[in-house]
Amino acid sequence: MASGRVLLASLLFLAGSQMLVCGQNNKFSAEKVGWIRFLVTVNDTWNPDGCIATVATDPLVPNKKYNQSEKIMVGSCDQGPLVYTVTNAVGTTGKAGKMSVDLTFYSSVIEDASPPTCHIPWGGSYMSPRPNTDPRDDSPLPGCFTMESREGYHMTYYWFYLLDWGWA
Ligand SMILES: *[C@@H]1O[C@H](CO)[C@@H](O)[C@H](O)[C@H]1NC(C)=O
Ligand SMILES: *[C@@H]1O[C@H](CO)[C@@H](O)[C@H](O)[C@H]1NC(C)=O
Repeated sequence: MASGRVLLASLLFLAGSQMLVCGQNNKFSAEKVGWIRFLVTVNDTWNPDGCIATVATDPLVPNKKYNQSEKIMVGSCDQGPLVYTVTNAVGTTGKAGKMSVDLTFYSSVIEDASPPTCHIPWGGSYMSPRPNTDPRDDSPLPGCFTMESREGYHMTYYWFYLLDWGWA
């Protein structure tokens, strides 16, 4: 009987410390990002009819150089290495959910300009719908949009979203 109570108390203690650990994990920080899978859309208007495609990348590890990265294929519209870094937003180191994903896509479409870059503010999770807005206007995925032109006049449009990630 007594040992039963001790066992129960130990189990409750274990459950409690488990919850504590989960609570601490909510303090996401940039150093803990092990990988991210991106959803990438390219609308390549070099082709007069447009060439639009969306793909999910493999899990990509942060802080790679472009020459250390596999190319991603965006359908038949584009291809190239996608590299990124994650930093804690200025002044928020150690605070929950204030990060920044900065990515560069070495797009094969862009030849004589800088490769497109994009900045995604990120709280470490998906986004809940905002009140009093049409839910169809909101994506639960943190993301960014940019455009770049080839030879100064053909615009190409890029969308990047955080689809999935793992903590290190
Ligand atoms: C993609 O580009 C084509 C050609 O410029 C344009 O007609 C179309 O509206 C674009 N689509 C999106 C989603 O931007
Ligand atoms: C990538 O480029 C850097 C500098 O540009 C060079 O030091 C490094 O050796 C290259 N790595 C590979 C795998 O080519």
